[in-house]
Formats: sequence, C-alpha cells, structure tokens
Amino acid sequence: MLTGLFFSAMITVCQAFIPQVIRISVDGVLGSDLSKIPEWVKAFLSEETIRENPGKMLTIAAFAVILLAAINIAANYYSKVFAAKGSESFVKGMRDQLYDHIQKLPYSWHVKNQTGDIIQRCTSDVDVVRNFVTNQLMEVFRIIFLIVFYMVIMFSMNVKISLIAVSFFPIVILYSGYFFSKIAQHFQEADEAEGILSSVVQENLTGVRVVRAFGRESFERKRFDEKNERFAGLWIYLGKFLSLYWSIGDLITGIQILTVICMGVLFTVDGNLTVGEFIAFVSYNSSMAWPVRSLGRIISEMSKAGVSIDRIAYILDEKEEDDRPGVTKPAINKDIVFDNVNFKYEEGAAVLKNVSFTVPAGKTFAILGNTGSGKSTLVHLLNRLYDLPDGCGKITIGGVDIRDIDRQYLRSQIGMVLQEPFLYSGSIKENVGITRESSAFDDIREACEIACVDSAIDSFTDGYETIVGERGVTLSGGQKQRVAIARMLVEHTPVMIFDDSLSAVDAQTDAMIREALKKRMAGTTVILIAHRITTLMQADCIMVLEDGAVAEMGSHEQLMEHHGIYRRIYDIQMNTQLDADSV
Ligand SMILES: Nc1ncnc2c1ncn2[C@@H]1O[C@H](COP(=O)(O)OP(=O)(O)O)[C@@H](O)[C@H]1O
Ligand SMILES: [Mg+2]
Repeated sequence: MLTGLFFSAMITVCQAFIPQVIRISVDGVLGSDLSKIPEWVKAFLSEETIRENPGKMLTIAAFAVILLAAINIAANYYSKVFAAKGSESFVKGMRDQLYDHIQKLPYSWHVKNQTGDIIQRCTSDVDVVRNFVTNQLMEVFRIIFLIVFYMVIMFSMNVKISLIAVSFFPIVILYSGYFFSKIAQHFQEADEAEGILSSVVQENLTGVRVVRAFGRESFERKRFDEKNERFAGLWIYLGKFLSLYWSIGDLITGIQILTVICMGVLFTVDGNLTVGEFIAFVSYNSSMAWPVRSLGRIISEMSKAGVSIDRIAYILDEKEEDDRPGVTKPAINKDIVFDNVNFKYEEGAAVLKNVSFTVPAGKTFAILGNTGSGKSTLVHLLNRLYDLPDGCGKITIGGVDIRDIDRQYLRSQIGMVLQEPFLYSGSIKENVGITRESSAFDDIREACEIACVDSAIDSFTDGYETIVGERGVTLSGGQKQRVAIARMLVEHTPVMIFDDSLSAVDAQTDAMIREALKKRMAGTTVILIAHRITTLMQADCIMVLEDGAVAEMGSHEQLMEHHGIYRRIYDIQMNTQLDADSV
C-alpha cells in the first residue's frame, strides 16, 4: 500500500516538472529574463548555449518531456499494482472476518435479520469499502500531495497570482463539504432500498413453490415492482441532486480559471511574470482545477463508504455467542432436567410456563402438543440456541446447569433432526457425512439403512452420488427428513432429538424407522416430538404440552387411563386411522 502511495507521489512530481521544462525553454528561447532560470539548469546548459543555440536547448527539453512522460507511465503502472495488492488483501481480510463473525452470531440474531439484507451488507457494502480503499483513499492522498506540491511551485514563481488562484479552493471544497453532508442520508436510503429489493427477490426465489402453487406470481411481481420503483426513484432523485452539484461546480471552476488567466495576462504585460512563467502558471492552475473538484466528489463518495462502513459495523459490532467463564465439558449421557422453566422470546408473550420434567438418561421421552405449543422452543433451549435468563428456571444435565457447559461441546453432543431439514447443494453422501470430517462410506450407508432411505437412494441412477439441494434432484419431504435422520445418526451422539421429524413419513415407514432405531439407540437418550400418537406411544414417558404448559405426563398406559387430552387425541387419531383403513 505504501509502495503504491510512493509511486503515486512520483507521478505528481513528474507531471509537475513538465511545465517547468516548457517554461525554461520558452523563456530561454524568447530570452526574456535569464536570471529567472534556476541555477541547476545553468550548470547543465550555460547561459551562452541557451542564448546562442536555442535549437539544442529545445531538443534537450523535448527529450526531457519524453523521459518524464516515460517515468510517469511506469510510476502509474506500479502505483496501481501495489495499491490493488494492498487493498485487495485488506478487503479479503474484511470478508473473512465478516463471514467468520456471522458464523458465531447468536441464532436469535439470524432470526431477527433478513438474509437478503445480510447478504447485501457482505457483498455490495464490502464492495463500496473496497472501492474506498482502492481508489478514493489513494486519490485523496494523491490530490492533497498534488495541491501542496503545485502550490509550493506556484508560490515560488509569483505569490500574488498564486493567492488569487488559491483563494477559490476553500469555496470549492466547502461547497463539496456542504453537499456531502446533504447527500449522505440519501445514499443510505438508496442502500436500504436495495437491501429490501434483494430480500424480496431472495424470498421469492426460495419460496418459488409457494408462489407457483398459490398463483401469487402477479402479486409478487407487484410487490417487486413497488420496491423496484422506490429504489429507482431514489436514484433518480440522487441523479438530479448530483447534476446540480456538477453544474454549479463547473461554473465556479470556470470563473477561477478565467480570473487566473486575466490576472496572468495583466501581470505578464506589466513585466511581473515572464511568458514562460505565465504558460507554466496557467498549466498548473488548470491541472489543479480538476483534482480540487474531485476532492469534493471523493468526499461525497466517501460519505457513501461511511454509510457502508456503518452497515458492516452493524454486523461486526454484534456480540458473538460466548460462554460465561469456567464452562466445562461434562458427560451428556445423564438425566436432563427442566426445572420450572419460563421463557418468552424477545418480543411477545410467554411461550413456556412453569415447565418441569426429567428425561432419564438412556430413555425415550416424547412430547405431544399442538403447533405453537412450545415444543421446538424446548429444543432451542436445550441446544442453547437461546439461553434462559436468570430467574426463569433451570435446565440441567447430570446436575450441571447447561449455561455452564461449553456451548459448542453441548451442541456436538446433541443430535437433532428438524421438521424441515435443510440439505446442502451436494451429493447425498456429502449431506449425510457433513457433520463429520471423515465419515466412512460404510457408516453413511448404515445410517441410511436405519433411516430407511437406502432403498430410495439406490433407486436413483447416481445412488449416493445423487446431487440434492438447490441445484439437484428434488427429494420428497419424507425422503429429506430421512436423509436428515441419517445425517444425525452418523454423529453417534449420546442425546438425539427428533423435532417433528417423522411428520412427512408415512405411518408404515415411521414404524420401520422406529424399529431400526430402537436397536441402534440402546443407551441413547431420545427426545421424540411428534403429532402422531403411534410415533410416540412406545416412549418411556410422554409429556403433553398445551399452550406452553405441561398438561399431562406419564406412560402411554397411564395417560390412557387418565382420560385426558392424550386419550382424546388417541381416540380421534385411531378412529381416523380405522376409517382410513376401511376405505
Ligand atoms: N424465534 C422466535 N421469535 C419469536 N417467537 C417465536 C420464535 N420461535 C417461535 N416463536 C413463537 O413461540 C411459540 C411456540 O413456538 P414453537 O416452540 O416453535 O412451537 P411448536 O414447535 O410447538 O410448534 C409460537 O407462538 C411461536 O410463534
Ligand atoms: Mg416445532
């Protein structure tokens, strides 16, 4: 980066010398006032040569200009190369840091923030910062160096006219500064509108099946159109604003150049300035006009970078999930106890109310409850996706508060299958083996057998190499769930949780999977969440959850005798089952 800056300064120096060479040749040839020619030139070319052989002098001057131009090109090349190297490695570091940080942010943060918006912050905003570092920062340095350097030369030639030229700079820079403070907010609005726009697109593409199934295309198009229009509108407004800025800026610059030329002519006529100096002066002044203007533009673009830096900082400043000091890694194959747990999400009503139960080590514990009764929330808490605040009860494993257990370790010991499993774009083999660095194929195959999905996989032409996920074949909901079950099985965790993960599997396969699992899972603690009574009636203990509170708890037989909700649900489901069978 520094090397880049050095070469960039060199460009300015080379460019500053060219008008000097011209000035000396013009003054030399016109012979106006040789006393003004610097000593070092006189040492190189004696006064006589300049007077008597102007041709030779012009040739030397011409070569000097060519040489300077050549150095200029080389410096230009190297300044760009080094600047790019420096800034790219800076931006790469930033991207890595962002990605790494996002991986460690709490689940609650991910739930709260829209994916499209996060993606935009990690892509366009990072790009703006990259541009800021690669171009703008370098430019600002170059321009300030150029202005200072040119001003030193100009002042050494003629103070009065230099003062006139310089007096315009504060106007131009203040004007840009004012403009920049005005425009920052509009840029932010436009950025946010872009974030919303990409969220809409992302949501639409992810939910394409819902969109098609409900014929929502025109609704979606309208929704997109609205956001798109707002986004375009904001940019059109910005465009108008910018045009106004450029026009007024052009006017000020024009007036400045005109003033300097007029004053220069007067000075030259009065003999205060040689013709060569006049030419050099006008040339410096015009070369400075554009950089001074750009300084304004760059400052206004920097405001955009400021917005992007804020938007990136929004992610980076978010606290990563961390453990309190002194966390341990105890054995997890112990009794899991929920002790008077009360919980609500950040915003909203109580989701769990005074929930107490014990999952004995190595047993199967089932939870039955309506949608929204808080079953998944129990799992989120056990997995420490959310931590219980103080005074809201306690969750312990083997007597240890789970908040005192290393979070990463805890999660690695609790296998989970979700109701809507997520498959990565990749082969089935990769999807099943993804949780372990080196899963042997035999393990993967065995897990798929237990999950009763191996025969389905074998029926695909590519077998275990079949690509699934976004760009692969579409598996049915039940197949996906079974692949996810297999994925959990290869982990061999002491605790396994099935969160409604057999819901999309037919009753017969459900029974087969449970049978296969029973053999495999001896000694494993299982938490089985289900809607279907047949799925969970063989569990050692069944808890019925109603509106976040424990309604009933006991074995199947006990609950049947109790004649409560469980019995009611049982009767309903069995009757429908009989009806279905008799059809
Ligand atoms: N991340 C969340 N933020 C806010 N509320 C949530 C969140 N997740 C679930 N809820 C709410 O908590 C309640 C229980 O949800 P959940 O535990 O998922 O129920 P279940 O798994 O039994 O269907 C629901 O009313 C749901 O709307
Ligand atoms: Mg759920």
